[in-house]
Amino acid sequence: MANKIFLLLISLTSNITCIHGSNGYSHWSPDGIKDLWCPKSSNCNAEPSPIHIDHCCACDALPEWEMLNYSPQYLSLEITNVKGSSRLIQNTIPTNNRITFIHTNGILSMFPENVCNFSIVYVDVSWNQLRSVGNITCLTELDTLIMKNNKVTYISNQTFVGLTKLRIVDFSYNLISKMDYNIFGSIHIMTFTFEGNYLAKLDVSNVLIANKTICGGSYANNRNPIEMTNIGQSFLGEVSGLICGDSDFSNVSINEHPIFTISEKIDQRTIRQYAPCGKGRYSGLAYDCDCKVAEFFHLQYYEFSRIYSKEYSESHCRSPSILENIRIEDLYFNQTLRDYMT
Ligand SMILES: *[C@@H]1O[C@H](CO)[C@@H](O)[C@H](O)[C@H]1NC(C)=O
Ligand SMILES: *[C@@H]1O[C@H](CO)[C@@H](O)[C@H](O)[C@H]1NC(C)=O
Ligand SMILES: *[C@@H]1O[C@H](CO)[C@@H](O)[C@H](O)[C@H]1NC(C)=O
Ligand SMILES: *[C@@H]1O[C@H](CO)[C@@H](O)[C@H](O)[C@H]1NC(C)=O
Ligand SMILES: *[C@@H]1O[C@H](CO)[C@@H](O)[C@H](O)[C@H]1NC(C)=O
Repeated sequence: MANKIFLLLISLTSNITCIHGSNGYSHWSPDGIKDLWCPKSSNCNAEPSPIHIDHCCACDALPEWEMLNYSPQYLSLEITNVKGSSRLIQNTIPTNNRITFIHTNGILSMFPENVCNFSIVYVDVSWNQLRSVGNITCLTELDTLIMKNNKVTYISNQTFVGLTKLRIVDFSYNLISKMDYNIFGSIHIMTFTFEGNYLAKLDVSNVLIANKTICGGSYANNRNPIEMTNIGQSFLGEVSGLICGDSDFSNVSINEHPIFTISEKIDQRTIRQYAPCGKGRYSGLAYDCDCKVAEFFHLQYYEFSRIYSKEYSESHCRSPSILENIRIEDLYFNQTLRDYMT
């Protein structure tokens, strides 16, 4: 009880601080659930339209505890057996709501058994031995989940259920070979990283998320060639809402560009109406140069290079063999090469 009163006082104080501190920030909530603050220094308001502003804030906005520079309230860990079970311990009464659990380079094989007892906002358990995320539905305040370099093999569409405050996840360099369709379900994630995993199939619902402006996601350096799927059969022109988020497919071999997977029912020249913002990073991306690629050559060069990302440049064909390693940009300009497309 004493604890609760104490926390209540803190949150009142923090609200006041916020009003004072709000000069440099404007309140921003992408979903009516997350309370985020978009820094004015990012100049997001100078973006050309509301969706561009949201995209900018999705990358730069901070939760209140980060903006106020509260010092993290660390939970410590007691390992309870050699197989990696553990319990969390709170040594002192927290002085703010930035409850943080960081335990990297360890032998954790699962989340601490009493993890639900704390209102944790930030978790970093990189470089441990976790094989699955387990059921963390109880972490309703969780904002950031960093699980790099563990041994997770599967992300289910139940994994993030209930984590409505979740903004950032990082599962880079795990052993993920399977991912359900639509892993983020109804939550509004901002940034997700699945770099360096082992996916052979990837559903487009986990890349291009309709109707939720996100900062972006990365599948760079995936170790296997990827086949894109569209299990939900969502197509631009048929789903309501726009697509806006960056994607990173650097150094990935993929059968088709994710945007092709969802755009077969529209005239590609109108792509901008459905996907007005968001950039790709595709350096080192290889894919099949079939007739779907050709459709995009009808785009204006500006739109073409946003989708193919000339800035980061250099995606190339992996098939047909006569076009292997030919840069997509060269295809755009060279009719002779284009005639080889299958
Ligand atoms: C802590 O969690 C355990 C189960 O994980 C539960 O049995 C216990 O009641 C909780 N304690 C508090 C103080 O919430
Ligand atoms: C996760 O745990 C909650 C209770 O904390 C339960 O309601 C839910 O069904 C569990 N989810 C899964 C996928 O087991
Ligand atoms: C979750 O994934 C399973 C298996 O891929 C699928 O059958 C189910 O429809 C999905 N549920 C949601 C809510 O997307
Ligand atoms: C897209 O967002 C709008 C406005 O928030 C909402 O009315 C609509 O139902 C959403 N569509 C889908 C498919 O979620
Ligand atoms: C792509 O691979 C090259 C060579 O392995 C590496 O140097 C580069 O950093 C990778 N790009 C990204 C974005 O990870």
